[in-house]
Amino acid sequence: MSGGLEGIVAGRTALCTVGKEGCGLTYRGYSIEDLAEHATFEETAWLLLRGELPTAEQLSGYRQRLRGLRSLPAALKSVLEQLPATSHPMDVLRTGCSALGCMETETASQGEFDIADRLLAVFPSMLMYWHWFHKNGTRIETETDADSIAGQILCLLHGRAAAASHQRVMDSSLILYAEHEFNASTFTARIVASTLSDFHSAITAAIGTLRGPLHGGANEAAFELIDQFTTPEEAETGVMELLRKKVKIMGFGHRVYRTSDPRSDVIQKYAAELAAEVKDTRLYPVSERIEAVMRREKKLFPNLDFYSASAYHFLGIPTLFFTPLFVFSRISGWAAHVIEQRGDNRLIRPAADYVGPEPRAFVPLASRK
Ligand code: COA
Repeated sequence: MSGGLEGIVAGRTALCTVGKEGCGLTYRGYSIEDLAEHATFEETAWLLLRGELPTAEQLSGYRQRLRGLRSLPAALKSVLEQLPATSHPMDVLRTGCSALGCMETETASQGEFDIADRLLAVFPSMLMYWHWFHKNGTRIETETDADSIAGQILCLLHGRAAAASHQRVMDSSLILYAEHEFNASTFTARIVASTLSDFHSAITAAIGTLRGPLHGGANEAAFELIDQFTTPEEAETGVMELLRKKVKIMGFGHRVYRTSDPRSDVIQKYAAELAAEVKDTRLYPVSERIEAVMRREKKLFPNLDFYSASAYHFLGIPTLFFTPLFVFSRISGWAAHVIEQRGDNRLIRPAADYVGPEPRAFVPLASRK
């Protein structure tokens, strides 16, 4: 049996190919390179959820619809206010999603697409409301003029409309993070959906799964690594030392990709542009050196999380918000998978190789030593 289910085909999907020969990374047949260059995140979310790219009319209606779904129920604001200021933002989203499931509980008559759209629109509001309330006591208005989710995230975080170029980086990053086949959090969401549980439970479980540093938490962990070093030389010595101690370097390697992560080139280009814009002379050169050391020593390549870390930092995003950004995006893929699983459901329940004791006689309490 393969540890970690490596190489096991665990189901069927029409959503995405990851590193498939002749296809690479595609969402519903469209290459990630084309989507990142020519589409917007809203188009991508529509494509993932509904199967086809939207027409211009559908897209403009969709943007407007998502804009109308940004507000937070009063009861949710109250929950967010009661969470500790020291909570990890991923815990805030996990709790917020679960709480919303109590307030806007899925019903038989409610469309699944409605819940998916609501979560797409409301997650940034949830996090930023909690953030500002605990940072300076402000109860922010989450309905802004931003006409995209990327613009909304940056506007709520910085309190003003972001430059178009920054919105574009954020938008592309949301496209890159949107979907990735049977990764751990998506598979979790599908397992929950396969029990015929509700939508919010599936997404709440997926958020908890994404949080770990071997999965979504790698972007935060990668930044902590990069930020330790002041020069490329220091980074070289430091990474060599970590490798000697057999410590995993976050933001490198992948379960499926063997030679490169196609998403990394796109985000690296943006990280380089932003580094030049903010006149960075430390983080980007340090990142490049870590990449060179990892290629030389381990033949490992950066995954999406590695250069996302510096790109997000240059956009002024707090490190603890890096993985939540992944949630703001991946909700599109998770929701599409939940809908797909429900469309052709069978309970997901694998078997295990038993490695425990042989059958033995029960020992009464009085005779145990
Ligand atoms: N740093 C150092 N060594 C790494 C490594 C990394 N980031 N990723 C893999 N390796 C090494 C392992 O130590 C192992 O070497 P060994 O055979 O000499 O023991 C070998 O490569 C295989 O690694 P393994 O952990 O078994 O691969 P996996 O398929 O189970 O794991 C990841 C895939 C993504 C979990 C793994 O590459 C990793 O932990 N990366 C860092 C976390 C990360 O960036 N996650 C985001 C993924 S998009």
